[in-house]
Amino acid sequence: METRSLVTIADMSKEKIMYLLEMAQEFEKNTNRKILDGKVVATLFFEPSTRTRLSFETAANRLGARVIGFADPKITSGTKGETLKDTIMMVSNYADIICMRHFLEGAARYASEIAPIPIVNAGDGANQHPSQTLLDLYTIYQTQGTLENLNIYMVGDLKYGRTVHSLLMAMRHFNPTFHFIAPDELKMPDEYKDYCQRMGIKYTEHKDFNTEIIKDADILYMTRVQKERFTDLMEYERVKDVYILKKDMLEGCRDNMKILHPLPRVNEIAYDVDESPKAYYFQQAKNGLYARQAIICDCLGISLDDVKNDPTILK
Ligand code: CP
Repeated sequence: METRSLVTIADMSKEKIMYLLEMAQEFEKNTNRKILDGKVVATLFFEPSTRTRLSFETAANRLGARVIGFADPKITSGTKGETLKDTIMMVSNYADIICMRHFLEGAARYASEIAPIPIVNAGDGANQHPSQTLLDLYTIYQTQGTLENLNIYMVGDLKYGRTVHSLLMAMRHFNPTFHFIAPDELKMPDEYKDYCQRMGIKYTEHKDFNTEIIKDADILYMTRVQKERFTDLMEYERVKDVYILKKDMLEGCRDNMKILHPLPRVNEIAYDVDESPKAYYFQQAKNGLYARQAIICDCLGISLDDVKNDPTILK
């Protein structure tokens, strides 16, 4: 079914990324608008979430839409055996757009193929998290003034972390140099390294995590070890605290370097790092509101010009 869904960032052109970032910038200037008056946004979260669900719902509310949905599939008729297909078809009867997180890789793609309304992938298993990527790109642009030619260090769970997979793909347009820092058990999967090779993206792999390794970073992208994706919890216990960013490690880093993290944080960034001007993860999460306002509007066919000329803004 042909709709304006957002399933993966891999489909998105450079022009489209820059267009959505400009739209997000408009929403940062003025978040409260009534541009979606009369619309209904559904948030279907089959996996836990704090930021993604709440920022999608805040985005919809601040744009004048109504929100329906669930944060826990245990309270739905899925527990009685209803399939994902039937759930999507039902909710399509009620809402104008569905923002969905699901534990199965490919669930968002499947939903987009059957739904008569747009689907926004709010994370599918270890696969993709395109709305996170848009807010990450917005944050990188905001802090670096450019997306081009940056040294991006990804640290932690590069195997299961869908945010790093999406970000890697989106950055293909901007000539990045990646440094992947992970233990053997959590290395960047071969399919993404093959992708880098095909796209001409430079990368280096490391196991050590120290001041010397990160001194040339423009962006230090920390990630949580994704406990929920391990089949062997003993293995999780072995790797869960493998890298912890401490404040003294930041001495000698570039002045422009910023620390990002998709959050939630568990133990991978010491709390005293929060006081550093390099810590940018809470502002990053705030940017999720503007990025998701842009995504919802774009999927509903509202253009950047519509947003710029929005008559509902109080000037
Ligand atoms: N970054 C992110 O996806 O956070 P949540 O799991 O809280 O939505």
